[in-house]
Amino acid sequence: MEITFLLNGESVHVSEVNPTQSALDWLRETQELTGTKEGCNEGDCGACTIMIADEAGARAVNACILFMGQLDGKSLTTVEGVARKTDDGLALHPVQTAMIEEHGSQCGFCTPGIVMSLATSHLTGDRNHDDILAGNLCRCTGYAPIIRAAEKAWKMPIPDGFGVPNICLPEATVDARRPDSSDALAATYLATPDATLIAGATDVGLWATKQLRDLDPVIFLSGVKDLQNIDITDDAITLGAGVSLERTRKLMTDHHPHFAEMLRRFASTQVRNAATLGGNIANGSPIGDAPPPLIALGADITLRHGDTRRTIALEDFFIAYGKQDRVAGEFVESITIPRAVDNLRVYKLSKRFDQDISAVLGAFNIVVEEGVITNSRIAFGGMAGTPKRARTVEAALTGQPWSRDTIMAALPAFATDYTPMSDMRASAAYRLKAAQNMLIRAFEDSQGTATNVLEVSS
Ligand SMILES: Cc1cc2nc3c(=O)[nH]c(=O)nc-3n(C[C@H](O)[C@H](O)[C@H](O)COP(=O)(O)OP(=O)(O)OC[C@H]3O[C@@H](n4cnc5c(N)ncnc54)[C@H](O)[C@@H]3O)c2cc1C
Ligand code: FES
Ligand code: FES
Repeated sequence: MEITFLLNGESVHVSEVNPTQSALDWLRETQELTGTKEGCNEGDCGACTIMIADEAGARAVNACILFMGQLDGKSLTTVEGVARKTDDGLALHPVQTAMIEEHGSQCGFCTPGIVMSLATSHLTGDRNHDDILAGNLCRCTGYAPIIRAAEKAWKMPIPDGFGVPNICLPEATVDARRPDSSDALAATYLATPDATLIAGATDVGLWATKQLRDLDPVIFLSGVKDLQNIDITDDAITLGAGVSLERTRKLMTDHHPHFAEMLRRFASTQVRNAATLGGNIANGSPIGDAPPPLIALGADITLRHGDTRRTIALEDFFIAYGKQDRVAGEFVESITIPRAVDNLRVYKLSKRFDQDISAVLGAFNIVVEEGVITNSRIAFGGMAGTPKRARTVEAALTGQPWSRDTIMAALPAFATDYTPMSDMRASAAYRLKAAQNMLIRAFEDSQGTATNVLEVSS
């Protein structure tokens, strides 16, 4: 594949590159840009963090699960491009200066990744450093000096010439494997239905780095502009399948803050910047974090096969473990959420707060009018082979007073709805108990009587 992009501000044209080579390997092995480190090679540790910029702005991503085919027409900045060259040598970026002054580094292995995460957030104006660094693991320094450095740097101006505003992005190269519209994607996928669709590559990347799978033929979705659209009307919010989880999080802050708060715990900033909502649905995972709240909200998805579109309830997309309602050559085009008063409460249970897959995730959309439950949609991840509604629990609630007695009476219904499995994340019994406790929690939260009230950031 032929690609053109900016590397540390310089235009680079690669006439022949393996489209599924990782940007990390390419940087280290062909460019000798070894500041970008390989730690885990699976998106967990952040040692490989780089900055990508395009019309959508700048964002930190993990180079180990970013394919070369995703880079065309973009700007890539590595840690080598953060300091500015001057007549007197190098002028460090404020983040680098602050890291030195605050003793934010010991062995230094994580430091380039941390510098890239912080330099990117310094540029974009994001200041929640706990979230920004949730995907950067440091084994030796401890985070207090790093956070102090982040806070110190935040008060300093962005250096001239750093980041997006002054760069001129190269024209993307034409290649059928990198369609730029849904129409082009539909035609290409119809012609090659056995192709691997690659959106954010936060799942697919691991098929290459960990399972060493040959993904060819591939189709990259990152250049499909209309898959990035967000359309808000009086009745519904429609998100293109290519909208990132980080954009989804920001959008949900205004509409369903509990959903947004849960997405804050979806992987890390780097992964959310790359991962797409469509990918989180299409992968069919029973522990994907986005489907349960979307199902609880009554979302539909639109699938496209050539010129034919069909819209189905999201819950019907998941047929059984590993089986979705999607034929060869068909892709997820968009997700539509009805506009409704916000009743949604979402609880994610995982062993760590950040950067961890759910053991159980419960989403509760319970409508109470004059003290009576008039409608309820409840969906769980981690409780079955697919994301699944708790229809028996819903039936036990609807029409009843919104009270603790109603909740306690509904708890046995969970065992009718779900026969969860035991695995390394949780036992079946634990999952069942946790799901029941989440319903109690949803009630206590609604009454303001939960022992530790979930604070939802605005
Ligand atoms: C470190 C790490 C942490 C993670 N943490 C979480 C977490 O907390 N919660 C969670 O739910 N997930 C998590 N994940 C998994 C992953 O990030 C998500 O599933 C993500 O949403 C996948 O989206 P993507 O765009 O990267 O998909 P890709 O990896 O590009 O694709 C995933 C699958 O979907 C298909 N696909 C993609 N887009 C479409 C489309 N439009 N139509 C049809 N098929 C399509 C691909 O062919 C592939 O089969 C994590 C992953 C990593 C690496
Ligand atoms: S090497 Fe660990 S996230 Fe990339
Ligand atoms: S300084 Fe050693 S891992 Fe962070």
